[in-house]
Parts: sequence; structure tokens; C-alpha cells
Amino acid sequence: MRCTVFGTGYLGATHAACMAELGHDVLGVDIDPGKVAKLSAGEVPFYEPGLAEVLRRNIEAGRLQFTTSYVEAAAFADLHFLGVGTPQKKGEYGADLRHVHSVIDTLAPLLDRPAVIVGKSTVPVGTAAELGARARVLAPAGDAVEVAWNPEFLREGFAVEDTLHPDRMVLGVDRDRPGSAETQLRQLYAPLLAEDIPFLVTDLATAELVKVSANAFLATKISFINAISEVCEATGADVTQLADALGYDARIGRRFLNAGLGFGGGCLPKDIRAFMARAGELGANQALHFLREVDSINMRRRTRMVELAAQVCGGSLLGANVAVLGAAFKPESDDVRDSPALNVAGMMQLHGAVVSVYDPKALDNSRRLFPTLNYATSVADACENADAVLVLTEWAEFAALKPDDLAGVVRARVMVDGRNCLDAQQWRNAGWVYRGLGRG
Ligand code: UDX
Repeated sequence: MRCTVFGTGYLGATHAACMAELGHDVLGVDIDPGKVAKLSAGEVPFYEPGLAEVLRRNIEAGRLQFTTSYVEAAAFADLHFLGVGTPQKKGEYGADLRHVHSVIDTLAPLLDRPAVIVGKSTVPVGTAAELGARARVLAPAGDAVEVAWNPEFLREGFAVEDTLHPDRMVLGVDRDRPGSAETQLRQLYAPLLAEDIPFLVTDLATAELVKVSANAFLATKISFINAISEVCEATGADVTQLADALGYDARIGRRFLNAGLGFGGGCLPKDIRAFMARAGELGANQALHFLREVDSINMRRRTRMVELAAQVCGGSLLGANVAVLGAAFKPESDDVRDSPALNVAGMMQLHGAVVSVYDPKALDNSRRLFPTLNYATSVADACENADAVLVLTEWAEFAALKPDDLAGVVRARVMVDGRNCLDAQQWRNAGWVYRGLGRG
């Protein structure tokens, strides 16, 4: 089949490459000529394990191209995916839909044949119906333009795996205007459906809500364990053992019960806020009041970490040398959007600490966002003369650190484990002060 994908960020670039991997002819579209040039040359403009290989393989096979031209895109295919970003509005909780609107407003006037536009971006419930109406007014093909919604659940760091082997697929269709979206997507995703991956067809609103509800649930699960972690700290209990014990209950499950610095990134924080904003517009704001608490527990983790750092530095961060290991919002990513690690590093600097940050992949993005922090070239470089070492992103390289690796480098043997990824006993036995979040 032939399809286009609008937007070539984490979501769009991965979707385009993976659809080509399934054997389809794909044209990726982006308004940024720099991104298009990079992708066309087989380079991924961000860090995503395994994506470069899929990209190159399919470019070489002639199945995957990129362009900035909407005219070319409209001529290329009659199935168009929409994968542009929906960030948080400046100064408001709601989602900023300007990129989504801009794709529809530019593409629709070029649609002179029947076409299906399939949204993958995370949008407030009601957006798909509105975009459908908007597209049909603007398109010469008029009522022959269908808008469907196929939310994307991929995790950064596992984007290729999640796209080619999702745990489920959801397709929202316009129940008032039966079209060909379902038939076309069943054909497009045939190799996945052959693996018995559940494929749920719903109305548009349900599909939009599935995505935000899933992210709200994950955020709630993380904030739940972080709230329990606060109680653990107050009593001297150990939240990691507690989470293990909870996790054996199959109804609860151990995943997303890692207490620590909390969630960040380009999705969870802004999605729960946009969800609250939309519920408010719909007159259902009471229903999601608890998400405010989820958000607040999460943000409190960051200030708690700064307090803990001050505590282990003798009561004040003023003049303290602090090594921060990790800047990305999670391991296997170079994404620093709303990164708890980078936030904490910035806050400690405001409190007078000399902060030295190291991350295996996210240094360039961090420098752009926080140019005034010191960036180190290795773990040892960051930890030189440190009064405290803080692990704020659980990269495997940091989780594998042994006390002897750093003993001769630091000024004081103090380890603060913001992700509860180190063996507390091992560090204490080696004579270090070890502090974790929620670990007594
Ligand atoms: C998330 C959803 O998982 C994905 O389905 C959706 O499509 C996009 O948003 P992502 O943003 O890539 O994906 O990150 P995720 O792996 O969910 O982690 C989010 C944050 O939660 C990270 O900052 C991570 O460190 C944190 N986290 C995760 C915890 O603090 N504890 C956990 O137990 C799990």
C-alpha cells in the first residue's frame, strides 16, 4: 500500500519507517527541511535504538522517502497519517493543536480524490470529529474525505518494537459516515493482525480517550507508589521491597511501580494536564480532580530530591559540588522535555551548588535547554571532587556502577539514588552514605 506520514518526530518518523518495514511505500512529510534532509540521508535526528537501521534499510529498498512538499504528499497516496506534536499550551493546561490544524488546513485543499486521514497524535476528545468537518469543507473531494483515529502507544526507547509488535491497536471511526478506514488499516496492518494482536474498532471519541486514559493511568500508578514512598520515608520502610510485594498481585502488577524521581517526558505530564483541561470544558472537571494530585505528587518528588541533596551536603547546597548522573527523562532516550533529572540539576544550581551533569545521550539537548549548567564528558569527569553523586536517570551504565569505581574520584562518599536502581547494601558496606527515595 501507499501512505504518507505527516510529522517526523519520535512518533511520525518511527511510524513511517515501520510502515515501510511492513512492505508499504511511504512518504514522510515535515515542514522542517533540516529534518527531511537528515532523514533522507538515513540519519535519525534523535536517539531511538534500532530506528536508524530500519530507516536505512527501507530508504535503500526504495520504499521510504521524505519531503517538505504537501503537493507531493497529496499526489503520492490517499491514506495519510497525522503524527505531529500536540504540546502543552504556553501558560495553560490545554493541548496546543496548532500543528494538527496546520496539517489539515494545508493538506485538505489539495485532496481532490477520496482520501482517509488517520490521526495518531494524542488529542483532546472531540478533535477528530472537528478535524473531519474542517477537512471536508476545505477539500475539493468534500464528503469523500474521512478522518479516523488510530492512537499510538509507543514508548520512547522502544519505539520500533512497540510499533511493529504493539500490545493492542485501536481504531476510532466516524460512526455517522461509514468509510474505508477500517478496511484500509486492516490491510496495512495485516502482518500485525496475523500475529493475533487485538484490534479494537471504536467510535472517534472512545479512541481519543483510550490514549489519554492509558497515560493518565500510568501517571497515576507512578504517583501512587511515590505517595507511598513518602510514607515509607516517614516510617523508615523500604518502598522497593513494598513495590515488589505489591507487584506479585496479578491485579496490581509490578510494572510502573518504580518509586523515585517521578515521571517526565513529552507525554505523561502534558497529557494529564490536557485531559483535565478538556474534562473541564466538557463540564466533567470533578471526575479528573485526582489528576491534579497525581501531578502534584509527581512535582513534589523533584523538590524532595533537592532537599535530600542539601541534607547530604551538610544542610546547604551553597558551594557544594554535586555530580548529576542522567539528564534524559528516562534511559535509552535523549529526550529532555520536562525531564525530572534536568529540572533537579537546574534547581540545585539556583540553590548555589556547582552542578556537573553527565548523560550518555542527552548532553546536546540538555545544553540547548539549560546552557548554564556544567556538562561533563564521562561519569568520572562529573564526579570529580563531588560532595554528593546523584543518580537521576537509571541508565544501565549508572545502575552498574560499583563503589570502587568512584571512591578515588569523589570528595565525599555520598550517593543519592533518585531512581532506586543501585544496591543500597553494597554502597553502605563500602563505607558510602547511601540515600534513596522512600528507602528509609
Ligand atoms: C509514555 C507511555 O508509556 C506511552 O504508552 C505513550 O505512548 C507515551 O507516553 P514515554 O513518554 O516514552 O511513554 O515514557 P514511559 O516509559 O511511559 O515513562 C514515562 C516517565 O515515567 C519516565 O520519566 C519514567 O522515568 C517514569 N517512570 C516510569 C517512573 O518514574 N516509574 C515507573 O515505574 C515507570
